[in-house]
Amino acid sequence: MTAITVRTPKEATGEYRDMLLRLMTRQFYAETATAEVFGRSIGCAPTLKERLLAAEFAEEEAEHSQRMCQLFEDLGVDPEEVFRSRPPAAAFWSLDMDNWVHVAVFNFTVDRAGSHQIMEYRDSSYVPWAEAMGKVLDDEEGHYGNGVDNLREFAKDKKLFAEFQTLYNQMLPVTIKRAFGRPTGADNDYCIKVGLKRHTTEAVVNRYLEEMVGYMRQVGLKFPSMATFDKIGAELMPSTRAILATNQ
Ligand SMILES: [Fe+2]
Ligand SMILES: [Fe+2]
Repeated sequence: MTAITVRTPKEATGEYRDMLLRLMTRQFYAETATAEVFGRSIGCAPTLKERLLAAEFAEEEAEHSQRMCQLFEDLGVDPEEVFRSRPPAAAFWSLDMDNWVHVAVFNFTVDRAGSHQIMEYRDSSYVPWAEAMGKVLDDEEGHYGNGVDNLREFAKDKKLFAEFQTLYNQMLPVTIKRAFGRPTGADNDYCIKVGLKRHTTEAVVNRYLEEMVGYMRQVGLKFPSMATFDKIGAELMPSTRAILATNQ
């Protein structure tokens, strides 16, 4: 436990409030953009079962977005205004929302990165946020389960799997860079100090990759080369490079 516990919106002030709003904005961008990705995939998923799941996931991401709206309103911030500052969903994630392979890689890669951040927020020192995240994480388990199922489906078809691997090589470095941000720096230290997060970004990224690599090994999916990460300027700690090196 940290010394700091912030139980009400009123108690969130100054630097703490600024950082809280920054983290919440990042999650809000992700939840709203993901709702749109799943919403669009109702039209491009190959089977009825996948289309119905897409509809269910879109509804859940919308509900996560609404939870964030409420948290913003309680802090006196207009969620519509925050939303207007968000880039279009396709640009935000660098993906083609009408392409099923893109959506499948997204679900396995990007959506799960968000979950690992939310695991931190569930234990956040800002109690209203922490309390709102339990249901969100339950839903996210279902999304990842489907992401893993899809990966296994793709692995059955050599050509489709090659496509999955190619897109994964593009999407994972972008995810590491955008979803988690820089692994070191004053902001990270501050978040830990005040309990807005409980683990360093390095630890969260590594936890995400370690979980992922177990599923990857089952089907022979590889991590992209180090050069792919370096090329887009995704900063990696030595411990993170070590995990990547075990399955390249
Ligand atoms: Fe979500
Ligand atoms: Fe999700």
